[in-house]
Amino acid sequence: MAPNPLHQHTVAIRAGRPEEPGDPLNHPLVAASTYRQGGERVYARGQGTPTTAAFEEAVGQLEGGLAVAFASGMAAVSAILDQLPAGARVIAPDDCYQVVTMALADGVERHGWSVDTVDLADTDRWVELISSGPDLVWLESPSNPLLVLADVPAICAAGNRADVPVAVDNTFATPLLQRPLDVGATWSIHSVTKFIGGHSDLLGGVVIAADAAQRDALVRRQVLGGANLGALEAFLALRGLRTLPVRLERAQASAGELARRLQGHPSVTRVRYPGLPDDPGHERARRTMAGPGAMVSFETTGDGAAIDKVLDALEVISPATSLGGVESTAERRARLDGQEHLPPTLVRLSVGCEHVDDLWADLSGALDGLPI
Ligand SMILES: Cc1ncc(COP(=O)(O)O)c(C=O)c1O
Repeated sequence: MAPNPLHQHTVAIRAGRPEEPGDPLNHPLVAASTYRQGGERVYARGQGTPTTAAFEEAVGQLEGGLAVAFASGMAAVSAILDQLPAGARVIAPDDCYQVVTMALADGVERHGWSVDTVDLADTDRWVELISSGPDLVWLESPSNPLLVLADVPAICAAGNRADVPVAVDNTFATPLLQRPLDVGATWSIHSVTKFIGGHSDLLGGVVIAADAAQRDALVRRQVLGGANLGALEAFLALRGLRTLPVRLERAQASAGELARRLQGHPSVTRVRYPGLPDDPGHERARRTMAGPGAMVSFETTGDGAAIDKVLDALEVISPATSLGGVESTAERRARLDGQEHLPPTLVRLSVGCEHVDDLWADLSGALDGLPI
């Protein structure tokens, strides 16, 4: 008999499959915008497709809630932000995905929102601001790109006490390392484009809601906004999800190894990785997450131009934005508009599934061009 409950690793492989005798093992890709009348589905913008439903079922089981899939991570983020009234008060991290910061600034400009930004690590400040009754608490942990960790359970508990909804962008952690709904979050959000899809071949997003009323509010955003996940993307994302546990296990092990080796490199001045014992987020990661993940950020000697040359010299690791694929990618984040406040040499490394020694040979060979 199968253990009950199943391990997350098994749920990622089992959930959302057809169950009847004679069914295919995998949900077929159903490309349909509309359905014959009389059944439960009418139109794909309202009721989705069997393929998106299978993806939502699988992610919902993994996160312990009700999933609604969107066309990108930002469409998922917008499905929550679009529910805010004019004049809303939001508390958000001072380090998070920069387009989320831009979306909040857009709300300030167009809808009169006010946004307080807080250091993710400063739990006391979050709790203090939550007690003043904002309309939304936005968390992203670990954060992009500085890999700062929030005390997600403590902040969600404060949100629950004050009846303030808490959204957690769980993209970097994946549902395998952190389940925000278990500790009281209202929503967990993913850019499916990243680890869940896992192959840099799709754009997708998902919000997992704690209850049916919140799920229905998200479906309303699909109906009105129309940023639904396409059937092909849902098919690819579900296929990607099946291997998330093995991909993440390999990538996380390599990330830990690379972080340690980077710390010993004479041209590397700082490594940020919650798996390192001297990382400020280490104890928190051990307490609140099932592992430190597969993202590593580091800073070097030299300047932005010098590190750009290092990235250009890489042959195994791709110099590219985005993250969470089987292929490792690296990017100097301060080169992006609106990211000039970041340390100029900060490289965000998304560790993939290549052999760790090939990754290290590539990285250390390119870094050897920097001053010591
Ligand atoms: C943490 C995080 N959240 C959300 C997004 C947005 O996702 P997408 O690019 O799929 O719209 C990203 C994209 O990089 C991200 O890193």
